[in-house]
Amino acid sequence: MVVERIEPYLSSEKLQARIAEVGKELSAVLSPTEPTIFICVLKGSFMFYADLLKHITVPTNAAFLAVSSYDGGTHSTGAVRLTHDLTLDIANQDVVLVEDIVDTGLTMSYLLEVLRARKPRSLRVCSLLHKPARERIKVPIDHCGFVIDDVFVVGYGLDYEQRYRDLPFIGVMHFDGPSAT
Ligand code: IMP
Repeated sequence: MVVERIEPYLSSEKLQARIAEVGKELSAVLSPTEPTIFICVLKGSFMFYADLLKHITVPTNAAFLAVSSYDGGTHSTGAVRLTHDLTLDIANQDVVLVEDIVDTGLTMSYLLEVLRARKPRSLRVCSLLHKPARERIKVPIDHCGFVIDDVFVVGYGLDYEQRYRDLPFIGVMHFDGPSAT
């Protein structure tokens, strides 16, 4: 029998401290008068997004989109789909794209292509995590929370088969047992 085990990796305290710094970093470079559109990439970045926005001290406009790239397990299918589009126009607007993790870079590369075609005035990428070991396409990450090892992480919005998103910390997923892969 395979037993799932989650090993603590980034504590809630560590996450919150770094998110406050990233919020400060972003606030310093964004317009103090014109609202910046912050795009939450669902589902994975919902917790990060909510906590990050509490630290933004300039005007914001909240927007949401959803993509699907994983088959529910630990490997990307490689084929990215937009499953829910924005409901506002980003042309001539300042935009920050908020992601949970850049792994192979395929999702981010797809999103940047889709969003750039809509001609925003500026487009910044903010990702809580970056896993450079599995990079397949290089994408610009303007603001990064943590660079992580080549491990599969769950919690704080990130899932394994849609579970564990509710954990307040990030942990490494292990599969223990004789037939574990
Ligand atoms: P990429 O296209 O390979 O860069 O992966 C992007 C998406 O895959 C992220 O937005 C996550 O939803 C998911 N993902 C990548 N790595 C992990 C992981 O370690 N744990 C959970 N989800 C992951």
